[in-house]
Amino acid sequence: MPSVSPSLAAAMSDAAASVNETLERILPKTDFAERKLFDAMRYGALNGGKRLRPFLVKSAASLFGVSDDCVMRTAAAVECVHCYSLIHDDLPAMDNSDLRRGMPTVHKKYDEATAILAGDALLTIAFEILSDPRTHEDPKVRCNLIAALAKSSGVNGMVGGQMLDLIAETTELDIGAITRLQRMKTGELIAFSAEAGAILGKASVQHHNALRAYAHDLGLAFQIIDDLLDAEGTEEETGKSVGRDAKAGKATFVTILGAERARSQAKLLSQQAVHHLSVFDGRAKFLEDVASFVVDRKG
Ligand code: IPE
Ligand code: IPE
Ligand code: MG
Ligand code: MG
Ligand code: MG
Repeated sequence: MPSVSPSLAAAMSDAAASVNETLERILPKTDFAERKLFDAMRYGALNGGKRLRPFLVKSAASLFGVSDDCVMRTAAAVECVHCYSLIHDDLPAMDNSDLRRGMPTVHKKYDEATAILAGDALLTIAFEILSDPRTHEDPKVRCNLIAALAKSSGVNGMVGGQMLDLIAETTELDIGAITRLQRMKTGELIAFSAEAGAILGKASVQHHNALRAYAHDLGLAFQIIDDLLDAEGTEEETGKSVGRDAKAGKATFVTILGAERARSQAKLLSQQAVHHLSVFDGRAKFLEDVASFVVDRKG
């Protein structure tokens, strides 16, 4: 991870290790007849990834003293939704990508039908995790987590954004429409990740809104950089197929603004994200630092 402070790198790898342990417990190996499905779910969820969303859940929750178990179960739920979205995004009917996290995509390793089912099962298990009393003793908190994750993942969030993303291959979208697309496709789940910390910690409305506003800007910056990496990055550094957007003729911030202005826009959004954290009086250092990581990353 170039240009990351040692303490941020250590904190990110700590969060990744903890969420991996939790996912390993939630997605055990089995010998059932449908074992292939479990294997594909594990393959799609346990093999790498930056674990940015779990890191956001953990860093936000730490502002409110939430217990580790609650944090990691919630982080695992978000990561399950994220991994499902990647498995389906890579399918031939969508981006038709062969490489993900430095390995063959799930449909390449298994087959398309298994990849669809593994995605479905990761999506549904996320809500099973959140509805479990071990995630939070208060049923109202569990219900709020479920509602917020459903909203950010569904038709008004990630899935709706993915639909717009397909439309962007054949329709000219202006910068406003692209911004909306990116906020839905990527920003909403990232926003949920930070918001989940506030829900778990029963934060004040002011703190809750600050985290959501922060992550909303961060999410947009994150997707602009993802588009830049697709245009300019390498498979070695990103661990995934690149050049897919240009090949599909997809409108992105990069095609509309050009690489340089897209990068400045991402930097501006990342700084704007950090401004929203001022209500925490310097206590949200990792959230501040990860905003720079998001725009400086190479993968
Ligand atoms: C990639 O997300 C897909 C987008 C939403 C842009 P990440 O870049 O967070 O992927 P992993 O989890 O690190 O593999
Ligand atoms: C997909 O965006 C975002 C999701 C909701 C999965 P991309 O198609 O740009 O993500 P990558 O580049 O394949 O990771
Ligand atoms: Mg895509
Ligand atoms: Mg893709
Ligand atoms: Mg991309």
